[in-house]
Amino acid sequence: MAPIGERMAKALNEQVKWELFSSYLYLSMSAYFSGTKLPGFAHWMRVQAQEELMHGMKIYDFVIDRGGRAELLAIDKPQFEWGSPLEVAEAVYDHEKKVTGLINGLVDLATEEKDHATLSMLQWFVKEQVEEEANASKIVEKLKMVSGEKGIGALFMLDRDLGERPPKLQPVVAAK
Ligand SMILES: [Fe+2]
Ligand SMILES: [Fe+2]
Repeated sequence: MAPIGERMAKALNEQVKWELFSSYLYLSMSAYFSGTKLPGFAHWMRVQAQEELMHGMKIYDFVIDRGGRAELLAIDKPQFEWGSPLEVAEAVYDHEKKVTGLINGLVDLATEEKDHATLSMLQWFVKEQVEEEANASKIVEKLKMVSGEKGIGALFMLDRDLGERPPKLQPVVAAK
């Protein structure tokens, strides 16, 4: 198979950066929740941060497997403070929608480049984004229902539920 094209490799390296930024952003959200004494939300965002790191590694490994050069780009400092749990959940939902747009852009580029291997790799991400958006949107809806003083008991119940999310972890340590 011909090595990956330069344009495609560059775009995938850019996506690795976005996945790692997502990880950084979600870890920052986890820290925010730890500070607000919502350990379940903190756990949920921490697991999410680990998943985003795995997403980045999937693309990083793919670039190397295809004979490209994985170039690591600078990652911005993520937001540090939010006004409420609902604000965080809405930010997650918005961020996932943005990432979906980036993945779709990569699919468009791979189509243009007639890069079938990259297209096939990206299909996993297309499906993953459907799940990511659906999960974020569900939490936004639940938080809208429990917002306000009266919902404090329901908020703690939701926190307990989120604390039970099992980590969907795969090792990211295998070097090429
Ligand atoms: Fe991701
Ligand atoms: Fe995500």
